[in-house]
Amino acid sequence: MDNNRPIGIFDSGIGGTSIWTAINQLLPNEKTIYLADSKNAPYGQKSKAEIVSLSKKNTEFLLDMDCKLIVVACNTATTNAIQELRGKYNVPFIGIEPAIKPAATNSKTQTIGILATQGTLNSALFHKTTEKFQQTKIIEQVGHGLVQLIENGKINSSEMKQLLHSYLTPMIEANIDYLVLGCSHYPYLIPQIKNILPSHIHIIDSGEAVAKQTQNILKEKVGFSIAKENKPVFYTNSNPKVLSEILKNKYTVIEKDF
Ligand code: DGL
Repeated sequence: MDNNRPIGIFDSGIGGTSIWTAINQLLPNEKTIYLADSKNAPYGQKSKAEIVSLSKKNTEFLLDMDCKLIVVACNTATTNAIQELRGKYNVPFIGIEPAIKPAATNSKTQTIGILATQGTLNSALFHKTTEKFQQTKIIEQVGHGLVQLIENGKINSSEMKQLLHSYLTPMIEANIDYLVLGCSHYPYLIPQIKNILPSHIHIIDSGEAVAKQTQNILKEKVGFSIAKENKPVFYTNSNPKVLSEILKNKYTVIEKDF
């Protein structure tokens, strides 16, 4: 079964490009359309109803572009809206959730840390996941301000360094041996995080798992692309320069109001 239609990927902003990178590496023949809703970022402090409504708007944009599958490359949108999306649209959705399971299963200290948005940590879906790992102590920390700094191109700023220190120090003191990055923006902070954490603490994000799941769904339900020309397309509704920079200026970014 061949299917040359594109895969649609959306996030509240530029962070989901970390997921796009994992998908593009695993599935280089697939055409991808990435949507950064940076005008409305961050989603993390918004109500569930607002997140559902923005996620529907993003999905409709991608469906208008004839996408065969939608990847919700945002933990906040997945944990708050994926059920509603699956209920409304007749297309497969793949979401991203914090990788609590591998961290809790492999932790020797039975203590893990999670850095995520308020929207993710407060969601019913996240609570359902953590309930399964009651033996593990989970230190939850909202990454207040991190997404805004990334969206403003301030990944390497002293403000960022300070915030990360204040969020991670209590986790180190609590003896975590795994840190879960529960927001698709945060993989861009791994170099700074590594400067703060002792080297025995593992850092996990969900990029590869989402890429593998995308591959599985294409294989089982949707079909792979066999097209020769598969240039990715990136759309943003605010600040194209920051999106272009995070992609190392290698791809064309289109600014469009949506
Ligand atoms: N990338 C989004 C996530 O994974 C960021 C959320 C936000 O916009 O606050 O949760």
